[in-house]
Amino acid sequence: MLSLSLSSPTIIIFSIFIVSLHHTTSLPSHASLSICNNTTFNCGTITNLSYPFTGGDRPSFCGPPQFHLNCQNGVPELNISSVSYRVLQINSATHSLTLARLDLWNDTCTHHYINSTFDGTSYSYGLGNRKLILYYGCKPTSVFTEDPHNLFHCDCNGYKNNSYCLIGPFPLDPILIFAECDEGVEVPILEEQANKFVGNRSLLREVLMKGFNVNYSNPFDDDCLECIGSGGHQCGFDYDVDKPICICGNELCPSSELGKVPGWQGGGSATGTT
Ligand SMILES: *[C@@H]1O[C@H](CO)[C@@H](O)[C@H](O)[C@H]1NC(C)=O
Ligand SMILES: *[C@@H]1O[C@H](CO)[C@@H](O)[C@H](O)[C@H]1NC(C)=O
Ligand SMILES: *[C@@H]1O[C@H](CO)[C@@H](O)[C@H](O)[C@H]1NC(C)=O
Ligand SMILES: *[C@@H]1O[C@H](CO)[C@@H](O)[C@H](O)[C@H]1NC(C)=O
Ligand SMILES: *[C@@H]1O[C@H](CO)[C@@H](O)[C@H](O)[C@H]1NC(C)=O
Ligand SMILES: *[C@@H]1O[C@H](CO)[C@@H](O)[C@H](O)[C@H]1NC(C)=O
Ligand SMILES: *[C@@H]1O[C@H](CO)[C@@H](O)[C@H](O)[C@H]1NC(C)=O
Ligand SMILES: *[C@@H]1O[C@H](CO)[C@@H](O)[C@H](O)[C@H]1NC(C)=O
Ligand SMILES: *[C@@H]1O[C@H](CO)[C@@H](O)[C@H](O)[C@H]1NC(C)=O
Repeated sequence: MLSLSLSSPTIIIFSIFIVSLHHTTSLPSHASLSICNNTTFNCGTITNLSYPFTGGDRPSFCGPPQFHLNCQNGVPELNISSVSYRVLQINSATHSLTLARLDLWNDTCTHHYINSTFDGTSYSYGLGNRKLILYYGCKPTSVFTEDPHNLFHCDCNGYKNNSYCLIGPFPLDPILIFAECDEGVEVPILEEQANKFVGNRSLLREVLMKGFNVNYSNPFDDDCLECIGSGGHQCGFDYDVDKPICICGNELCPSSELGKVPGWQGGGSATGTT
């Protein structure tokens, strides 16, 4: 408990401490915000990416969290809805990318039983995909006199090491009438790869590595346009308050300007620290 007999210097120091706590933020001292202006993300074959993407030389405060990339041994990685992907291509002009599941890279077996889904706010399915479903943990069955073409094997739930890949709308490929499976994983593949794959089911591993198309859209695009329109140089993001920021030179744009722009953060780190 604090006693009432604190000397005034202690109170002042205590207040400064409280005030500085209040302004704790993910943003660095303002002197380095301009780094968002002159850095790009470069990793392997993916080069020259700027806002909304961050990662590599671009600190996370240079863009919204859903566009944060990680460069792992020359391979750009991206997480969407708890699934990790390798980024094979990005086209900033058409706002599209080609992604391949990291857990299914050069491997047809996964233990990450999550469907590749996109909620549409930042990422949505692009054009030219077909849906593929991989079933894991299927009981061996004696129904088939010879192995179906879409059967493969994965270590999974003990003796249930049968897996099947299904393409196209069920019941086009009515394997599930005979097989009982524990897990299903949905992942899109490219249409042209799907056609090859239907002709030769052994191509599953290769086909998964070609990825599939996804469109992206930045939910803060309008905010960013307003930022640039009102004299800002760059857009960024404050993870702590979960809001976009507008960067002028080395600093956040003056709050007087920000105040005029609906959607910009009014309080917290935008106004406080000067
Ligand atoms: C970015 O600009 C700042 C200041 O203009 C400079 O100090 C820094 O070296 C530049 N960084 C890059 C990667 O060009
Ligand atoms: C990088 O992209 C910018 C526009 O975003 C463009 O002006 C510049 O020429 C590109 N640089 C390279 C090396 O491609
Ligand atoms: C994706 O999530 C995994 C596990 O949580 C994490 O290790 C990885 O760094 C994340 N990758 C990116 C690009 O954020
Ligand atoms: C994805 O982007 C492509 C090319 O920009 C466009 O033609 C298509 O309509 C978009 N798809 C969706 C679902 O938005
Ligand atoms: C896939 O894995 C095999 C060995 O399991 C390796 O020889 C091959 O280089 C890998 N291919 C890719 C594209 O990573
Ligand atoms: C599947 O599991 C059974 C029982 O454990 C085993 O006898 C069989 O060899 C396995 N098959 C494959 C292809 O791994
Ligand atoms: C994934 O999709 C498959 C096939 O559509 C479905 O059976 C399964 O329940 C889905 N898994 C999850 C976790 O939603
Ligand atoms: C199917 O693809 C595999 C793997 O690439 C290849 O070894 C095999 O010869 C192909 N089979 C046919 C019938 O084309
Ligand atoms: C940031 O870029 C804008 C143009 O995009 C330029 O006008 C401004 O001077 C740059 N600021 C810094 C600090 O480099």
